[in-house]
Amino acid sequence: MARMRYVVTGGTGFIGRRVVSRILDRSEDAEVWVLVRRGSLARFERLAAEWGPRAKPLVGDLTAVDLGLADEAVAELGTVDHVVHCAAIYDITAARPSSGRPTWTAPAR
Ligand SMILES: NC(=O)c1ccc[n+]([C@@H]2O[C@H](COP(=O)([O-])OP(=O)(O)OC[C@H]3O[C@@H](n4cnc5c(N)ncnc54)[C@H](OP(=O)(O)O)[C@@H]3O)[C@@H](O)[C@H]2O)c1
Repeated sequence: MARMRYVVTGGTGFIGRRVVSRILDRSEDAEVWVLVRRGSLARFERLAAEWGPRAKPLVGDLTAVDLGLADEAVAELGTVDHVVHCAAIYDITAARPSSGRPTWTAPAR
């Protein structure tokens, strides 16, 4: 069966981790690549212990040029069917431009 390939940003977050779980639960052919900052890989690994091998880390950062993705990672990722953008700097006490702008504009890149 052909794999349906997803990229989910913010997959280690409150909303995103539920999105990843839902995708994996509802379709056996789904493979989810979670954009994860290098410093959050341990968090990803804890979640992946429940998600299983169909959840894969895609090391990057929404604020970096080209999302900080290595060429090898892009090559391994290949064609993507769906992108679900859940990442955010979610701090209601921070000023709007400094708190969210890099992650709001990331999908356009
Ligand atoms: N929580 C709610 O009740 C709620 C309700 C409605 C809407 N929303 C919206 O849903 C979105 C996510 O909220 P949340 O509550 O899930 O936030 P959260 O728990 O703080 O999660 C934020 C996610 O974004 C990732 N992230 C932040 N900066 C990043 C960067 N530069 N590069 C890559 N990943 C980055 C975080 O990764 P790390 O693990 O590396 O930190 C984390 O996975 C927000 O837009 C929020 O407004 C939330």
